[in-house]
Amino acid sequence: MRTNQPQTIYLSEYQAPAYLVDHVSLRFELFEDGARVHSTLSMRRNPAAMQSGSTLELDGDSLTLESLALNGQSLASDEYRNEGDKLVVPTVPEAFELTVVTWIEPQNNTRLEGLYKSSGMFCTQCEAEGFRCITYYPDRPDVMARFQTRVEADKSAYPILLSNGNPVEQGDLENGRHFVTWEDPFPKPAYLFALVAGDLVEKRDTFTTCSGRNIDLRIYVEARNARKCDYAMDALKRSMRWDEEVYGREYDLDIFMIVAVDDFNMGAMENKGLNIFNSSCVLASQDTATDAAFQRIEAIVAHEYFHNWSGNRVTCRDWFQLSLKEGFTVFRDSQFSADMGSPTVKRIEDATLLRTAQFAEDAGPMAHPVRPASYMEISNFYTLTIYEKGAEVVRMIHNLLGAELFRKGSDLYFDRHDGQAVTTDDFVKAMEDASGRDLGQFRLWYEQAGTPVLAVSDHYDEVQGVYRLDIRQSVPDTPGQSGKKPQHIPFAIGLLDSEGQPLPLNMGAEDSNGSFERVLELTETQHSFEFHGVKERPVPSLLRDFSAPVRVHYPWTREQLLFLMSHDPDGFNRWDAGQKLAVDVIQSLVDAPQGTEIEPRLVEAYRLLLNDTELDQALVAKMLLLPSEAYLVELSDQADVPAIHAARERVLDHLARALRDDLLACYQRNAGQGDYELTPAAIARRSLRNTALAWLLHIDDEQGRALAVEQYEQADNMTDRLGALRALVNSGFESERTRALAAFFERFQDDPQVVELWFSVQASSDRAGQLPQIQALLEHPAFDWKNPNKVRSVVGVFAGQNLAAFHNPDGSGYRFLADQVCRLDDSNPQIAARLVSPLTRWKKFSPQYSSQMKAALERIRDKTELSRDVYEVVHKSLAD
Ligand code: BES
Ligand code: ZN
Repeated sequence: MRTNQPQTIYLSEYQAPAYLVDHVSLRFELFEDGARVHSTLSMRRNPAAMQSGSTLELDGDSLTLESLALNGQSLASDEYRNEGDKLVVPTVPEAFELTVVTWIEPQNNTRLEGLYKSSGMFCTQCEAEGFRCITYYPDRPDVMARFQTRVEADKSAYPILLSNGNPVEQGDLENGRHFVTWEDPFPKPAYLFALVAGDLVEKRDTFTTCSGRNIDLRIYVEARNARKCDYAMDALKRSMRWDEEVYGREYDLDIFMIVAVDDFNMGAMENKGLNIFNSSCVLASQDTATDAAFQRIEAIVAHEYFHNWSGNRVTCRDWFQLSLKEGFTVFRDSQFSADMGSPTVKRIEDATLLRTAQFAEDAGPMAHPVRPASYMEISNFYTLTIYEKGAEVVRMIHNLLGAELFRKGSDLYFDRHDGQAVTTDDFVKAMEDASGRDLGQFRLWYEQAGTPVLAVSDHYDEVQGVYRLDIRQSVPDTPGQSGKKPQHIPFAIGLLDSEGQPLPLNMGAEDSNGSFERVLELTETQHSFEFHGVKERPVPSLLRDFSAPVRVHYPWTREQLLFLMSHDPDGFNRWDAGQKLAVDVIQSLVDAPQGTEIEPRLVEAYRLLLNDTELDQALVAKMLLLPSEAYLVELSDQADVPAIHAARERVLDHLARALRDDLLACYQRNAGQGDYELTPAAIARRSLRNTALAWLLHIDDEQGRALAVEQYEQADNMTDRLGALRALVNSGFESERTRALAAFFERFQDDPQVVELWFSVQASSDRAGQLPQIQALLEHPAFDWKNPNKVRSVVGVFAGQNLAAFHNPDGSGYRFLADQVCRLDDSNPQIAARLVSPLTRWKKFSPQYSSQMKAALERIRDKTELSRDVYEVVHKSLAD
């Protein structure tokens, strides 16, 4: 695993596998001091392989080989080579059976890849290359096989034994042991293999599919979590129904299982028939989960379920195609969430993540195309670009084709490629074939990295009544890519007259189409569009509903933004106009002298919003949130984070003081009403109320303090309790803060998911999360270096969300992060590599910061025995 100069893998060097696996028979003997894995592979030469010769190569990682046999004949040590990460058998026949026995130590596996133990149970994580930590195997997604798995373990410690597919046999063995055998009829790549053994309780339900088949649904958790599965179960049934209705996809096995585990590198994993979830992404109850957590659980349950088709039935040929399954599935889960809640709010959330974090990635040293051309460590490529930009690319296809032709395209794709391992190009081809549209230029979205920039200017000819938009697009250089071609960009727009009424968009003297919204298709570097019969200079509403993942530059006046904020019929742009105005005001205050006036029209706009009971309250709740510091940093170059933080605080402070009475009124108006509900309206109410409370406490308002203390004590749900706690923690009321934090811990100390919230509220607070306090949290008895969620909730949240504290001008935040990365690199390189990310964009910050960030990266680089994961991120970040 450790190497000094990891190899780079190139898409251009892809070769079909030399040997295929038709069937795998696995037998796991699980013990406390290790596990023995017997594997019998039925293999044959791949007729489509290019290479000649008869050498077999299998992947392996951290394995002890106990025996090896070919067609039942055990191989002598000179008949194969064990090269550490490869097992080589120089001559094999056309077709043969290979039997491999390996010994592994799940109890010592801190990387959480392959087979490992989490709170006493055995579980697996094989994507992307974890199966090779279990046994020697051609561990690549284009090798698809049918699996049979027999699991043997002590019956009292591990009464539940699970794997993919259907249970076919079970029984008792000697010495208090037992076994269960599972068979998965669908060929799959090894990364979808899963095994679980533990003392778990099951929650059962059933689902009747569209063709009338009854599916057995089960969620397995530790006994103490038995009452926290209902929401995920409901979300699962909603997802199954939705995928039938919207994509015509029916579930294919007789049983679908979800298991919750506490130690997990990611959120969840779509193993065939046996999804494994990070506990925090599946367990929920009214008193322990926030509204955001419920929504996240619904989305992740859906996402992993949807992979059954987009990922499992049709999988990826190689890991360069990762977005084929992840981008498409994120698009599917976002459509689902939009259908279950408020589409505008969902769009705002997706666009916020994209613009804040993905744009930053695309402008930094780790920038890569949606379909990368090379990588060192695939685990580093589960990125916002693969996921979120990948989903936007699929969304653009959906919008270019329309819902009906898109559905035709997805039907064709699933039908044509069922049981195959394919490429993003196969996906686009199916969309082309089903719709008749040429997506040739559109494919550049997969190949070119970087966020396209649209510079928009306009011209109004009063005499002719013609309004013209001139749009120049450019795609910035990214590491290894320059001189890019113009892309095919769907650009949705509308025009408003001075009354706020939409104008008909007639695009030629003859055109009387009269539609009020159009999707302009930009294909040239420079593109102009004329609108005829326009009676007055309009206000343009650009990139409606965020129709493409691009940056738009247009010389907005504050007047226009205020106008759009209250008139744009497009909810997304209404929100966006407010964000742009707030960004403009905050930016103008960075380094402005004390006493500089703060735009009074911003105050009035927020006052209107706070008192607006007509507009969708979910949208109002979003509009009230000021742009985040991370977004403000992303928008600036040579960022001075403490200065940005101070400017934003000044605006917040000013707004809260000027609107104090309106905030109180808003708080009271949105007070709890009856039973806890998870409807968009109820969620919006809690969000408005908690925002109002946060603002009041921001200015240390006495009445706000009383309300927060009361809300903390009276809350009947976690959203309100945490909202009150957060407001107190971020206030100057020192004794209330201390008391609430102590009470909260006391009450929830036995619930890991809530303790994670407790850590992150502190780690994200500029009052409670300065470095010495963070260091104290790391010493807290509830903190655990082996648990990724705990590491993320303290170290990750500090570096990623507490920007002013992290970017302390003395550089202490950077050194701290570098130390933690080095420490984690030995135990869990995947988590270590993800934590480096806040340092990677060092060039973006003003020199006093960037030089110290660079020094922190060099400190990591110079650690001995750096993992491939961290090596890649650090070296790419430091490259010129
Ligand atoms: N296939 C991934 C999980 C995964 C990623 C496993 C990387 C191993 C390495 C899964 O489908 C996924 O994408 N999960 C996301 C959540 C999802 C809602 C975007 C995750 O784990 O964060
Ligand atoms: Zn996924």
